[in-house]
Amino acid sequence: MGQVDGKVAIVTGGTSGIGEAVVRLLVREGARVIVVARGEARGMRLERELGRQRAQFLRGDVTVEATAVAAVAEASRFGGPDILVNSAGVDFVKSVCDTSADELNQVLATNLVGAFVMLRIVGQAMLDRSSGSIVNVTSRTASVGVAGMGAYSASKGGLLALTRTAAIEWASRGVRVNAVAPGVTETPLINEWVEGQPQPGLFREQLGASIPQGRLGQPEETAQAIVFLASDEASHIVGISLAVDGGYTAA
Ligand SMILES: NC(=O)c1ccc[n+]([C@@H]2O[C@H](COP(=O)([O-])OP(=O)(O)OC[C@H]3O[C@@H](n4cnc5c(N)ncnc54)[C@H](OP(=O)(O)O)[C@@H]3O)[C@@H](O)[C@H]2O)c1
Repeated sequence: MGQVDGKVAIVTGGTSGIGEAVVRLLVREGARVIVVARGEARGMRLERELGRQRAQFLRGDVTVEATAVAAVAEASRFGGPDILVNSAGVDFVKSVCDTSADELNQVLATNLVGAFVMLRIVGQAMLDRSSGSIVNVTSRTASVGVAGMGAYSASKGGLLALTRTAAIEWASRGVRVNAVAPGVTETPLINEWVEGQPQPGLFREQLGASIPQGRLGQPEETAQAIVFLASDEASHIVGISLAVDGGYTAA
C-alpha cells in the first residue's frame, strides 16, 4: 500500500524540478495528480510518460484565479482534492537597491499571490469536505538573509507567514497546512542561475561548500519531505516549516 493511496493531488509547478519530483513520488505512492504549469510541452510529456490516469496535465498560470478553479473542478471529478502542493515559483536575483517595485510585484505575483489564490480556492474545497493537506514550497530565504535575494525572500517569507496563519485557521476543520523550505537544490531553476555566472564550475563548488553537508540537494530529497507532510502519516503536524537544506539554516 502506498503512502498516499487513492488520494487526489494538485501540484503546481509539477512539470520541472522539485514539483516534478513530487508528482513522480505521489504517483509512485498511489495518488492521482493534477499537474499545473504553463508550458504545455513538458506537461504533455509527463502525462504521456506517467499515464493520464495518474498524472493529468492542466495548463494554467497560478497568477490567474481561473487556474485554481479549473484544478479544483478536475480534482473533484475524482473525489478530491485531498492534497495541494504549491511548488510553482520563479527565481529572482538582484540586490535590494537594484530591484524596482515592478520587479518585486512580478515575483510576488507567482510566488506569493499565486500560491495564496491556490491555497484559498483549493483550501475552500478541502474545508467543504473537512479533509485535506496543503504543502507550500518556501525556501531557506524565508528564514535567513541571503544577499541578492531581496524580492525572492520577501515572497517566500510571506508564504511562510501565510502557511502558519492558514494552518491555525483551518486546523480544527480537517485541513492541515505546512511548509517545506528547500535549500539550494539541483533543478533547472538553479542550473540556469549557476550557468549564468562568470565561472559556473567554481560558483557551483562555492555553493556546495556553503552548505554544512557539503553538497546541493536533489529534488527527490525535497519531494520525500513534501509527500510525507502531505500524507496521513503527518496527521498531527500543523503549521511547521520543514527545512530540507543540508543544514544551511541550522548553521
Ligand atoms: N531549486 C532550488 O534551489 C529551490 C530552493 C528553494 C526554494 N525553491 C522553490 O521550489 C519551487 C520549485 O522550484 P524548482 O527549482 O523546482 O523550479 P523549476 O525547475 O524552475 O520549476 C518551476 C515550475 O513552476 C512552474 N511555474 C512557474 N511559474 C508558474 C506560473 N506562473 N504558473 C504556473 N506554473 C508556473 C514552471 O513551469 P512553467 O514555466 O511551464 O509554468 C515549472 O514547472 C519554487 O517555488 C522555488 O522557489 C527552489
